[in-house]
Amino acid sequence: MQKVAVITGAASGIGRGLAERFAAEGMQVVLADVEEAPLAKLESDLSAKGATVLVVKTDVSNAGEVENLAGQTLDTFGAVHILCNNAGVVCSRPIWEHTLADWEWVLGVNLWGVIHGIRAFVPRMLAQGDRCHIVNTASILGLVGGGGEGIYKVSKHGVVVLSETLADELAQKAANIQVHVLCPGWVRTGILDSARNRPDTLQNPEVKTPSRQENIGGSRNVRAEMEAGMSPAEVAAHVYNAIQTGTFYIHTHPEHKAWVRERMERILE
Ligand SMILES: NC(=O)c1ccc[n+]([C@@H]2O[C@H](COP(=O)([O-])OP(=O)(O)OC[C@H]3O[C@@H](n4cnc5c(N)ncnc54)[C@H](O)[C@@H]3O)[C@@H](O)[C@H]2O)c1
Repeated sequence: MQKVAVITGAASGIGRGLAERFAAEGMQVVLADVEEAPLAKLESDLSAKGATVLVVKTDVSNAGEVENLAGQTLDTFGAVHILCNNAGVVCSRPIWEHTLADWEWVLGVNLWGVIHGIRAFVPRMLAQGDRCHIVNTASILGLVGGGGEGIYKVSKHGVVVLSETLADELAQKAANIQVHVLCPGWVRTGILDSARNRPDTLQNPEVKTPSRQENIGGSRNVRAEMEAGMSPAEVAAHVYNAIQTGTFYIHTHPEHKAWVRERMERILE
Protein backbone atom coordinates (compact mmCIF):
# COMPACT_ATOMS: atom_id res chain seq x y z
CA MET A 1 0.00 0.00 0.00
CA GLN A 2 1.30 3.44 -0.93
CA LYS A 3 1.99 5.53 2.18
CA VAL A 4 0.43 8.97 2.72
CA ALA A 5 2.48 11.81 4.25
CA VAL A 6 1.00 15.14 5.37
CA ILE A 7 3.38 18.09 5.76
CA THR A 8 2.50 21.50 7.18
CA GLY A 9 4.64 24.47 6.20
CA ALA A 10 5.33 22.44 3.04
CA ALA A 11 5.78 25.36 0.64
CA SER A 12 9.29 26.34 1.76
CA GLY A 13 12.46 25.24 3.51
CA ILE A 14 12.38 22.09 5.66
CA GLY A 15 8.75 21.34 4.75
CA ARG A 16 9.54 21.43 1.06
CA GLY A 17 12.58 19.21 1.67
CA LEU A 18 10.39 16.67 3.51
CA ALA A 19 7.78 16.68 0.74
CA GLU A 20 10.43 16.13 -1.93
CA ARG A 21 12.00 13.27 0.02
CA PHE A 22 8.72 11.50 0.82
CA ALA A 23 7.57 11.85 -2.81
CA ALA A 24 10.92 10.47 -4.00
CA GLU A 25 10.35 7.48 -1.68
CA GLY A 26 7.07 6.79 -3.53
CA MET A 27 4.66 8.26 -0.97
CA GLN A 28 1.53 10.24 -1.74
CA VAL A 29 2.01 13.70 -0.25
CA VAL A 30 -0.42 16.22 1.19
CA LEU A 31 0.97 19.75 1.14
CA ALA A 32 -0.42 22.27 3.64
CA ASP A 33 0.66 25.90 3.91
CA VAL A 34 -0.67 29.47 3.85
CA GLU A 35 1.57 30.66 1.01
CA GLU A 36 -0.25 29.73 -2.19
CA ALA A 37 2.23 30.55 -4.97
CA PRO A 38 5.17 28.44 -3.67
CA LEU A 39 2.69 25.72 -2.71
CA ALA A 40 1.39 25.59 -6.32
CA LYS A 41 4.99 25.56 -7.61
CA LEU A 42 5.88 22.59 -5.39
CA GLU A 43 2.72 20.78 -6.47
CA SER A 44 3.65 21.16 -10.14
CA ASP A 45 7.33 20.21 -9.51
CA LEU A 46 6.35 17.02 -7.67
CA SER A 47 3.56 16.12 -10.11
CA ALA A 48 6.03 16.52 -13.00
CA LYS A 49 8.14 13.82 -11.30
CA GLY A 50 5.13 11.50 -11.17
CA ALA A 51 4.14 11.99 -7.52
CA THR A 52 0.53 11.98 -6.33
CA VAL A 53 -0.04 15.29 -4.58
CA LEU A 54 -2.93 16.90 -2.72
CA VAL A 55 -2.74 20.59 -1.81
CA VAL A 56 -4.84 21.86 1.09
CA LYS A 57 -4.35 25.54 1.90
CA THR A 58 -4.19 25.48 5.70
CA ASP A 59 -3.48 28.00 8.42
CA VAL A 60 -2.24 25.70 11.20
CA SER A 61 -3.14 28.22 13.90
CA ASN A 62 -6.80 27.63 13.02
CA ALA A 63 -8.27 24.42 14.51
CA GLY A 64 -11.03 24.20 11.88
CA GLU A 65 -8.57 24.44 9.00
CA VAL A 66 -6.38 21.66 10.45
CA GLU A 67 -9.49 19.52 10.99
CA ASN A 68 -10.34 20.15 7.31
CA LEU A 69 -6.78 19.09 6.35
CA ALA A 70 -7.23 15.78 8.16
CA GLY A 71 -10.70 15.26 6.67
CA GLN A 72 -9.57 15.98 3.11
CA THR A 73 -6.55 13.69 3.50
CA LEU A 74 -8.71 10.76 4.61
CA ASP A 75 -11.43 11.50 2.02
CA THR A 76 -8.85 11.57 -0.80
CA PHE A 77 -6.46 8.79 0.14
CA GLY A 78 -8.40 6.79 2.75
CA ALA A 79 -5.43 6.77 5.13
CA VAL A 80 -2.59 8.78 6.66
CA HIS A 81 0.76 7.35 7.72
CA ILE A 82 3.05 10.31 8.42
CA LEU A 83 2.14 13.71 9.83
CA CYS A 84 4.84 16.40 9.94
CA ASN A 85 3.73 19.30 12.13
CA ASN A 86 6.37 21.58 10.68
CA ALA A 87 5.01 25.08 10.00
CA GLY A 88 6.82 27.71 12.04
CA VAL A 89 7.63 31.42 12.31
CA VAL A 90 10.01 33.56 14.33
CA CYS A 91 9.86 37.08 15.70
CA SER A 92 12.34 38.49 18.17
CA ARG A 93 12.80 41.41 20.54
CA PRO A 94 13.45 41.61 24.32
CA ILE A 95 10.82 39.39 25.88
CA TRP A 96 9.12 42.15 27.90
CA GLU A 97 8.72 44.29 24.76
CA HIS A 98 6.73 41.73 22.78
CA THR A 99 3.19 42.76 21.97
CA LEU A 100 0.22 40.49 22.53
CA ALA A 101 0.04 40.18 18.74
CA ASP A 102 3.64 38.83 18.68
CA TRP A 103 2.77 36.22 21.31
CA GLU A 104 -0.46 35.26 19.59
CA TRP A 105 1.14 34.94 16.16
CA VAL A 106 4.22 32.88 17.11
CA LEU A 107 2.50 30.64 19.67
CA GLY A 108 -0.47 30.30 17.29
CA VAL A 109 1.64 28.84 14.49
CA ASN A 110 4.47 27.09 16.37
CA LEU A 111 2.63 25.61 19.36
CA TRP A 112 -1.11 25.69 18.64
CA GLY A 113 -0.36 24.47 15.10
CA VAL A 114 1.15 21.28 16.58
CA ILE A 115 -1.68 20.96 19.13
CA HIS A 116 -4.29 21.22 16.36
CA GLY A 117 -2.37 18.65 14.29
CA ILE A 118 -2.35 16.18 17.17
CA ARG A 119 -6.03 16.70 17.99
CA ALA A 120 -7.10 16.28 14.36
CA PHE A 121 -4.88 13.37 13.32
CA VAL A 122 -4.19 11.15 16.36
CA PRO A 123 -7.79 9.90 16.75
CA ARG A 124 -7.89 9.09 13.02
CA MET A 125 -4.53 7.28 13.20
CA LEU A 126 -5.70 5.28 16.24
CA ALA A 127 -8.89 4.28 14.43
CA GLN A 128 -6.90 3.29 11.36
CA GLY A 129 -4.51 1.04 13.28
CA ASP A 130 -1.70 1.02 10.64
CA ARG A 131 1.86 1.95 11.61
CA CYS A 132 1.95 5.78 11.74
CA HIS A 133 4.54 8.47 12.52
CA ILE A 134 4.17 11.99 13.84
CA VAL A 135 7.17 14.27 13.33
CA ASN A 136 6.96 17.54 15.26
CA THR A 137 9.43 20.21 14.21
CA ALA A 138 10.90 21.88 17.31
CA SER A 139 14.45 23.28 17.18
CA ILE A 140 17.70 23.10 19.09
CA LEU A 141 16.19 26.20 20.75
CA GLY A 142 13.55 23.87 22.19
CA LEU A 143 16.29 22.21 24.23
CA VAL A 144 18.35 25.16 25.48
CA GLY A 145 17.73 28.33 27.51
CA GLY A 146 19.37 31.76 27.59
CA GLY A 147 18.49 35.12 26.07
CA GLY A 148 17.10 35.79 22.59
CA GLU A 149 14.20 34.53 20.49
CA GLY A 150 12.03 34.33 23.64
CA ILE A 151 8.59 33.51 22.26
CA TYR A 152 10.12 31.16 19.73
CA LYS A 153 11.97 29.29 22.51
CA VAL A 154 8.81 29.11 24.64
CA SER A 155 6.95 27.63 21.66
CA LYS A 156 9.68 25.12 20.81
CA HIS A 157 10.16 23.95 24.43
CA GLY A 158 6.39 23.44 24.36
CA VAL A 159 6.67 21.33 21.21
CA VAL A 160 9.40 19.17 22.79
CA VAL A 161 7.44 18.42 25.99
CA LEU A 162 4.22 17.96 24.02
CA SER A 163 6.01 15.38 21.86
CA GLU A 164 7.52 13.62 24.90
CA THR A 165 4.09 13.43 26.54
CA LEU A 166 2.40 12.20 23.38
CA ALA A 167 5.06 9.53 22.79
CA ASP A 168 4.76 8.22 26.35
CA GLU A 169 0.97 8.16 26.39
CA LEU A 170 0.77 6.40 23.01
CA ALA A 171 3.34 3.84 24.22
CA GLN A 172 1.29 3.22 27.38
CA LYS A 173 -1.70 2.46 25.14
CA ALA A 174 0.50 0.23 22.93
CA ALA A 175 -0.69 2.38 20.02
CA ASN A 176 0.88 1.79 16.62
CA ILE A 177 2.01 5.43 16.35
CA GLN A 178 5.61 6.52 16.73
CA VAL A 179 6.43 10.12 17.65
CA HIS A 180 9.59 12.01 16.69
CA VAL A 181 10.76 15.52 17.57
CA LEU A 182 13.02 17.31 15.13
CA CYS A 183 15.58 19.64 16.78
CA PRO A 184 17.73 21.24 14.07
CA GLY A 185 20.36 23.97 14.27
CA TRP A 186 20.62 26.40 11.35
CA VAL A 187 19.02 25.26 8.10
CA ARG A 188 19.02 27.32 4.87
CA THR A 189 15.35 28.33 4.61
CA GLY A 190 13.04 31.33 4.52
CA ILE A 191 12.61 31.44 8.33
CA LEU A 192 14.27 34.85 8.76
CA ASP A 193 11.57 36.29 6.49
CA SER A 194 8.71 34.76 8.48
CA ALA A 195 6.97 38.14 8.65
CA ARG A 196 5.92 37.57 5.02
CA ASN A 197 3.16 35.31 6.37
CA ARG A 198 2.10 37.35 9.38
CA PRO A 199 -1.67 37.90 9.17
CA ASP A 200 -3.06 41.44 8.92
CA THR A 201 -5.05 40.88 12.10
CA LEU A 202 -1.83 40.26 14.09
CA GLN A 203 0.33 43.13 12.78
CA ASN A 204 1.88 45.65 15.20
CA PRO A 205 0.82 49.03 13.86
CA GLU A 206 1.98 50.77 17.04
CA VAL A 207 5.45 49.19 17.20
CA LYS A 208 8.33 49.51 14.74
CA THR A 209 9.00 45.94 13.65
CA PRO A 210 12.77 45.57 13.24
CA SER A 211 14.01 43.57 10.27
CA ARG A 212 14.79 39.95 11.07
CA GLN A 213 18.46 40.65 10.56
CA GLU A 214 18.43 43.44 13.16
CA ASN A 215 16.42 41.64 15.75
CA ILE A 216 17.48 38.00 15.74
CA GLY A 217 20.73 37.25 17.51
CA GLY A 218 21.54 40.88 18.38
CA SER A 219 24.64 42.04 16.54
CA ARG A 220 25.49 38.63 15.03
CA ASN A 221 25.06 38.31 11.29
CA VAL A 222 22.42 35.66 11.56
CA ARG A 223 21.59 35.67 7.87
CA ALA A 224 25.16 34.64 7.07
CA GLU A 225 25.00 31.95 9.79
CA MET A 226 21.76 30.62 8.35
CA GLU A 227 23.03 30.64 4.81
CA ALA A 228 26.00 28.56 5.96
CA GLY A 229 23.53 26.12 7.54
CA MET A 230 22.38 22.66 6.50
CA SER A 231 20.28 22.08 3.38
CA PRO A 232 16.62 21.11 3.80
CA ALA A 233 17.36 17.92 1.83
CA GLU A 234 19.90 16.86 4.48
CA VAL A 235 17.38 17.55 7.26
CA ALA A 236 14.82 15.47 5.36
CA ALA A 237 17.35 12.63 5.17
CA HIS A 238 17.76 12.76 8.98
CA VAL A 239 13.96 12.64 9.38
CA TYR A 240 13.59 9.76 6.93
CA ASN A 241 16.31 7.77 8.74
CA ALA A 242 14.72 8.50 12.13
CA ILE A 243 11.42 7.11 10.85
CA GLN A 244 13.22 3.96 9.70
CA THR A 245 15.13 3.52 12.96
CA GLY A 246 12.42 4.68 15.38
CA THR A 247 14.52 7.55 16.78
CA PHE A 248 12.60 9.99 18.97
CA TYR A 249 14.95 13.01 19.30
CA ILE A 250 16.20 13.92 15.83
CA HIS A 251 19.49 15.81 16.21
CA THR A 252 20.71 17.17 12.88
CA HIS A 253 23.61 19.12 14.43
CA PRO A 254 25.24 16.83 17.05
CA GLU A 255 27.78 19.57 17.89
CA HIS A 256 24.94 21.43 19.68
CA LYS A 257 24.38 18.58 22.15
CA ALA A 258 26.99 20.27 24.40
CA TRP A 259 24.56 23.20 24.88
CA VAL A 260 21.86 20.80 26.08
CA ARG A 261 24.29 19.10 28.46
CA GLU A 262 25.38 22.49 29.91
CA ARG A 263 21.76 23.50 30.50
CA MET A 264 20.93 20.20 32.22
CA GLU A 265 24.02 20.50 34.42
CA ARG A 266 23.03 24.06 35.39
CA ILE A 267 19.56 22.83 36.33
CA LEU A 268 20.92 19.97 38.43
CA GLU A 269 23.45 22.20 40.19
N1 LIG B 1 15.67 27.23 9.42
C1 LIG B 1 16.22 26.90 10.59
O1 LIG B 1 17.39 27.18 10.85
C2 LIG B 1 15.39 26.15 11.60
C3 LIG B 1 16.04 25.61 12.72
C4 LIG B 1 15.29 24.92 13.67
C5 LIG B 1 13.93 24.76 13.49
N2 LIG B 1 13.31 25.29 12.39
C6 LIG B 1 11.87 25.07 12.26
O2 LIG B 1 11.62 24.46 11.01
C7 LIG B 1 10.25 24.67 10.65
C8 LIG B 1 10.17 25.06 9.19
O3 LIG B 1 10.74 26.36 9.03
P1 LIG B 1 11.77 26.72 7.86
O4 LIG B 1 13.06 27.02 8.51
O5 LIG B 1 11.70 25.72 6.80
O6 LIG B 1 11.18 28.15 7.40
P2 LIG B 1 10.41 28.59 6.07
O7 LIG B 1 9.97 29.99 6.32
O8 LIG B 1 11.28 28.33 4.88
O9 LIG B 1 9.18 27.61 6.02
C9 LIG B 1 8.11 27.72 6.95
C10 LIG B 1 6.80 27.47 6.22
O10 LIG B 1 5.73 27.60 7.17
C11 LIG B 1 4.67 28.28 6.51
N3 LIG B 1 3.76 28.91 7.47
C12 LIG B 1 3.92 30.06 8.18
N4 LIG B 1 2.82 30.33 8.89
C13 LIG B 1 1.93 29.32 8.65
C14 LIG B 1 0.62 29.04 9.09
N5 LIG B 1 -0.02 29.85 9.95
N6 LIG B 1 0.03 27.91 8.65
C15 LIG B 1 0.66 27.09 7.76
N7 LIG B 1 1.89 27.32 7.29
C16 LIG B 1 2.52 28.42 7.73
C17 LIG B 1 5.37 29.29 5.63
O11 LIG B 1 4.52 29.78 4.60
C18 LIG B 1 6.54 28.50 5.10
O12 LIG B 1 6.22 27.85 3.89
C19 LIG B 1 9.73 25.72 11.62
O13 LIG B 1 8.94 25.10 12.62
C20 LIG B 1 11.00 26.30 12.22
O14 LIG B 1 10.77 26.85 13.49
C21 LIG B 1 14.01 25.97 11.45
